[in-house]
Amino acid sequence: MSISFRDRVAIVTGAGGGLGRAYALELARRGAKVVVNDLGGSRDGTGHSDAAASVVEEIKVAGGEAIADGSSVTDLAQVEAMVARAKQAWGSVHILINNAGILRDKSFAKMTMDDFKAVVDVHLIGSANATHAVWEMMREQAYGRILMTASSTGLYGNFGQANYGAAKLGLAGFARTLALEGARYNVRVNTIAPTAATRMTEDIFPPELLARFQPEAVAPAALFLVSEDAPTNVILGAGAGVVQAAYVTLTRGAALREPTPEAVAAQYAEITDRTGETVPQSGAEQAMTILQRLQGQ
Ligand code: NAI
Repeated sequence: MSISFRDRVAIVTGAGGGLGRAYALELARRGAKVVVNDLGGSRDGTGHSDAAASVVEEIKVAGGEAIADGSSVTDLAQVEAMVARAKQAWGSVHILINNAGILRDKSFAKMTMDDFKAVVDVHLIGSANATHAVWEMMREQAYGRILMTASSTGLYGNFGQANYGAAKLGLAGFARTLALEGARYNVRVNTIAPTAATRMTEDIFPPELLARFQPEAVAPAALFLVSEDAPTNVILGAGAGVVQAAYVTLTRGAALREPTPEAVAAQYAEITDRTGETVPQSGAEQAMTILQRLQGQ
């Protein structure tokens, strides 16, 4: 079964380089018309360049269709104007890949709140801005595929990335509720946690692994998650051609013998026992499991 994006319009944020560029090129190669968004800043989010224009050029040389957009995802008015341009040029937007990002790594002890807010602003608020700008259109046309970009840092933590981790797990949480709200409108929302050698990770990748961890090796998972037959509400990890699924699981837990912290301590082994753990598909489902536990099931 081949996956085509013919007649689909896609916006990829932060697509002037790294992973976003790889997604944009592959979407275009498979027939999508692509808005290549990128502010063209440096890794910490400062400055500007015409990174988006050069990716558009690459797509056009390969015979595809694309337009460049230099908006910052942090600016709702600019993002709305970008969506309006796409609609004017091609009639609609079917796919949004929220990929733009910056880093301000420091241990939390040394991190300023400006560093914290700047990172949350680009990743989390930026993704919410772009999603908000397409959401109504996708609901009305009963078709939408949205991908959030989380990270192993969001899912599992990494030293020196408290700001980034907060934003990234925020994105996974954002996707969860959108997947529920979008379901009856055929708007599917997923999350990817990529691992790739890009300028973002250039100082941590051993040189011998660079060739394997190319951004192009993440693109298959990202494209699957925005395809016609994409699932919804899933988190995939992807790097070097390996694709994994990440879950937020819930143990069966324990009904406390008495309502005290001492009882939590005494029953801690039972509370954390992973035998029979589940993966609730909504917050309401967790509440149901509590009721079931009280009924001794
Ligand atoms: P990158 O630095 O090459 O790409 C990020 C792009 O976003 C840049 O081109 C940058 O100019 C653009 N950007 C930054 N702020 C923007 C703004 N306000 N508006 C529009 N564009 C903006 O890095 P990479 O690795 O390709 O990152 C892509 C995404 O993948 C990011 O969200 C990153 O956090 C995430 N990620 C990457 C991992 C990796 O191993 N490379 C690991 C986990 C997550």
